[in-house]
Amino acid sequence: MQTIFVLNGPNLNLLGTREPEIYGSDTLDDIAQALHEQAKGLGVEIDVRQTNHEGVLVDWLHEAREVGAKAVLLNAGAYTHTSIALLDAIKAIGVPVIEVHLSDPSKREEFRHISYVGMGAVDEVKGLGPRSYSVALEKAAAL
Ligand code: DQA
Repeated sequence: MQTIFVLNGPNLNLLGTREPEIYGSDTLDDIAQALHEQAKGLGVEIDVRQTNHEGVLVDWLHEAREVGAKAVLLNAGAYTHTSIALLDAIKAIGVPVIEVHLSDPSKREEFRHISYVGMGAVDEVKGLGPRSYSVALEKAAAL
């Protein structure tokens, strides 16, 4: 069975209590559980992870290539808007990456309008709350 990595960056471990007016009240565990159910139906396996550290995200992107992952869903949090290292990793691995956001950064502060992740990603899903992940998973399974 093919594996899709679902990688989450800084502060997403606080989902549920973190600015719920922006990010909603679901925790990352809630989102992961729903994705596991969805993945069964789609016939794929998912590997859901979260870290607050940029280099760990880089290492996990490399791992996606090493294990032959089918795709990566990446919500890099604020590193989306700052990290050339993530862009370089995305370009290096040859595994399709779909950018995911709960909110729509393009409708928020100007510093969120640039996305280095988006410069390397094959697709993006944003602004749908937790449904951003499920729409992205559907897209990834269909790649
Ligand atoms: C986010 C949007 C980012 O701008 C922000 O830094 C996050 C969460 C989202 O899912 O909406 O941490 O990636």
